[in-house]
Amino acid sequence: MALLEVRDVIVRFGGVTAVAGVSFEVEERQICGLIGPNGAGKTTLFNVISGIYRPTSGEVRFAGQGTTGQPRHRMAPLGLGRTFQNLALFRSMTVRENVLAGAHAQGSAGFLANALRLPAARREEAAAEDHARSLLALLDLEAVAEVPVAALPFGTQKRVEMARALIGKPKLLLLDEPAGGLNHGEVDGLATLRRDIRRNFDLA
Ligand SMILES: Nc1ncnc2c1ncn2[C@@H]1O[C@H](COP(=O)(O)OP(=O)(O)O)[C@@H](O)[C@H]1O
Ligand SMILES: [Mg+2]
Repeated sequence: MALLEVRDVIVRFGGVTAVAGVSFEVEERQICGLIGPNGAGKTTLFNVISGIYRPTSGEVRFAGQGTTGQPRHRMAPLGLGRTFQNLALFRSMTVRENVLAGAHAQGSAGFLANALRLPAARREEAAAEDHARSLLALLDLEAVAEVPVAALPFGTQKRVEMARALIGKPKLLLLDEPAGGLNHGEVDGLATLRRDIRRNFDLA
């Protein structure tokens, strides 16, 4: 069974057909690219896969489960992480805080355990901090860990989004326009980074 199955997905916005019947599969650990000119429907399809939009028709299955119409906060625990073409970071928060926010979307200790600072919640917090440290190292963000995101160049902010998605331990990481807005050096770095990520994280 494929990790991600997209079947006959159609998305219409009023009179505009943004996605016109798309089907494909992604296997575990597969690196798969979605290409098409501006306006081809790539971001719309990502929004359907990650549960932000409900398709007009068709179906998306992730790890064997139907995801169509699932609220999006259910998607991260299923193992789906993503970045956004226009970035969706907490701009006044530091790099480290943004990355940890991705772990909190994921925590299993529950609201009450967290509020009461029970041992399970404290252990989860310590594990998240360790994990954040190793991701900041992998993504070359250690030097800017305590800097507010708004003060950083676009290419660096994109790596912060990647770290925030990775801390949720996704099985599938969707990167929307990962090279968009980057300079040549950053694009070269991205290719190396993508290989490092797959080697370290066992994901598609
Ligand atoms: N929320 C929306 N409402 C109306 N039209 C939209 C919306 N989102 C995307 N579109 C339209 O759908 C088409 C596909 O857009 P998009 O998915 O952003 O393409 P891509 O990411 O490949 O550049 C475009 O014609 C765009 O204008
Ligand atoms: Mg797009």
